[in-house]
Amino acid sequence: MIRKISAFLPADHPWREQIVYLPAVDSTNTYAKDLARQGAPSGTVVIADAQSGGRGRMGRSFCSPAGLGLYFSLVLRPQCPAKELMHLTCAAGLAAALAVEDAAQVAPDIKWTNDLVLNGRKLGGILAELSIDPMTAAVDYAVIGIGINCHQILLDFPAPLQATATSLRMAGADISRAALAAALINRLCAMERDLLSQRAQTIADFRKRCITVGRDISLIRGDSLRHAHALDVDEAGGLLVQYPDGSREVIACGEVSVRGMYGYL
Ligand code: BTN
Repeated sequence: MIRKISAFLPADHPWREQIVYLPAVDSTNTYAKDLARQGAPSGTVVIADAQSGGRGRMGRSFCSPAGLGLYFSLVLRPQCPAKELMHLTCAAGLAAALAVEDAAQVAPDIKWTNDLVLNGRKLGGILAELSIDPMTAAVDYAVIGIGINCHQILLDFPAPLQATATSLRMAGADISRAALAAALINRLCAMERDLLSQRAQTIADFRKRCITVGRDISLIRGDSLRHAHALDVDEAGGLLVQYPDGSREVIACGEVSVRGMYGYL
């Protein structure tokens, strides 16, 4: 697998020698965090053929059967305070959408904040995790996890996901996971370069792909559910919403679950 991915990368790509491939793992994010704690350099990539405990946002699981999806995590070491990385999930989601477009010639939308969406169904997701130095509030490392459904047919998904999930194959864009992994590596490398210097442009590009903006949505915080209208995405990647009484709030990434008023979108 590593050789196949390398074949798609430039010979001098800075992350080329830092790709770890595992036939099976609980979670590539957990594995990448262990590597980061042991000192792995920025640009370390972990890819697995299968995950037994693939994780999503808000304690959800990510269905990760062998051979069917791309399960990918990246270690980064941005030199900045954590508060400057509030837009990391948006930047990574945009990079992942662009990588899918590069490799598979289909353009996913993004459901705020971390779902890749194709034809109204979930194609994949992003799970960004930060380790912060408690003394300085600086970022020690970030792990960006990306899961993309590649070769599944509908019946490969568990019954509860069959109404909302899709894959590149189901969208008529079946491509090799190695090609997609290489496209992700290229786009994430550009994302790392621009992460702090091009924040406004990144958010502007994210906004164009974000199908949540302009929709009526349900915000689920624990047991409470509120309806709102999504107005915009702010410079930190937060979702600006307006409630039926006219009041407004910015929802920070990671805080709430967002659903369409009448379904997944
Ligand atoms: C979500 O849907 O909420 C995010 C899903 C993120 C899944 C990816 S797969 C690779 C990496 N390892 C994990 O355990 N999760 C991420």
